[in-house]
Amino acid sequence: MANFPDGFLWGGATAANQIEGAYAEGGKGLSIQDVLPDGERGRVTEEPTPDNLKLIGIDHYHRYVDDIALLGEMGFAVYRFSMAWSRIFPNGDEDQPNEEGLAYYARVLDELERHGIEPIVTLSHYETPLHLARAYGGWENRALIGFFEKFARTLFERFGDRVKRWLTFNEINAVLELPFFAGGVPRTREDMPLQDLYQTVHHELVASARVTRLAHDLIPGSQIGCMILAMPTYPLTPAPADVLAAQQAERVNYGFGDVHCRGYYPSYLLRTLERAGVTLEITDQDRDDLLNTVDFVSLSYYVSVCETADEDLRIRGEGNFLGGVPNPALAATETGWGWQVDPVGLRVVLNAYWDRWQKPLFVIENGLGAVDVPERTDDGLRIEDDYRIAYLNDHLSATADAIDDGVPVLGFTVWSCIDLVSASTAQMSKRYGLIYVDRHDDGSGSLDRHRKKSFYWYKDVISSNGALIR
Ligand code: BG6
Repeated sequence: MANFPDGFLWGGATAANQIEGAYAEGGKGLSIQDVLPDGERGRVTEEPTPDNLKLIGIDHYHRYVDDIALLGEMGFAVYRFSMAWSRIFPNGDEDQPNEEGLAYYARVLDELERHGIEPIVTLSHYETPLHLARAYGGWENRALIGFFEKFARTLFERFGDRVKRWLTFNEINAVLELPFFAGGVPRTREDMPLQDLYQTVHHELVASARVTRLAHDLIPGSQIGCMILAMPTYPLTPAPADVLAAQQAERVNYGFGDVHCRGYYPSYLLRTLERAGVTLEITDQDRDDLLNTVDFVSLSYYVSVCETADEDLRIRGEGNFLGGVPNPALAATETGWGWQVDPVGLRVVLNAYWDRWQKPLFVIENGLGAVDVPERTDDGLRIEDDYRIAYLNDHLSATADAIDDGVPVLGFTVWSCIDLVSASTAQMSKRYGLIYVDRHDDGSGSLDRHRKKSFYWYKDVISSNGALIR
């Protein structure tokens, strides 16, 4: 039996662009997601096109009252969601916020309060306003720091009495692979020299630190977290050259947490940049800003990868944006999308992060994207997603093991509590939810909600404070 501490924060997570829809309602401007009909992999369209499932999403914008009631029914202590930047500042560079957008999120907070659910708000979940991408070149431009700060200040001043936990950038390290998707930079990775890529990273790191200070100044008792795409990197073989290659690959991702938690660039990262001929523009003010370190580290965990020094073996497998060399020891445990399932990797990464940063951790995303095949019954649809229950059980068990190892883990929010549009592939068929949404890849479906078997299971997990986890 797993042991979770009293007060462990059980819940689920979503992102505005994957659930809300209503892409042009309530005064909202366009975000980069509105022109990415294939997710991160494909086209960038001039205008939103009807084949982009995110334009309607799961229509949460209109159905949030019923959706939040379902979260309440599961007994959620917390719910993590994002407030879409382009709902508050439609273009991103206005002086005044869009009051209709603020009113919408005030109503969402009302519903959460009604059900006794604490909100955790992500400020930026792959949702840069499109205008900031097109007119300014996205986060490659230093000007975005100020625009982001204004956005954050607006939310802190309006909602700071109701929201104490905030996350700055979702999976901040993803910008290294996906400059447009994660950084609003309208260039491909291949076309971006390391110099420009790391300057983009630097602007996001400074922005994250600046809003951390702002939250601490404006919101008594606030807790600010960074959010890292966690992907433990194992050596492909015990050969020392592979161990070194894995360590170096791991550091690429560690760098983000190091700056967030220590308040300065680690020497290995500065040295790597120097060797590559990169000279970052870091002002004295930036250095001062970076000293505002986060209160906790949140992470998404889906896959682990391997690394090798052998160029011939360095093939890139499927994974959560960053990818890596597939693990031969996990060959038989793929999801339908080629992601290798590795619950032990979560225990590994929780221990490694705690050892390194000594900040409380939050598993803010973990779950299984799978095809669900509903059965029609007299009472509606039945979805027997035992595979999802098994996946979550095993990852929660690994979380409990890490807690038992001495790691302070604040909570666990399932990705996702409800089916939504996938980020990387923009599909509905890659379902993550505990609640089924009747919508399909071709856009058809009633959008009705149905509780899956995992819904009832998670409800029991929460009410037993994890005693059901094996
Ligand atoms: C994380 C993102 O990368 O993984 C989410 O923060 C995303 O937005 C989740 O949905 C699962 O990935 P995907 O691409 O299968 O939706």
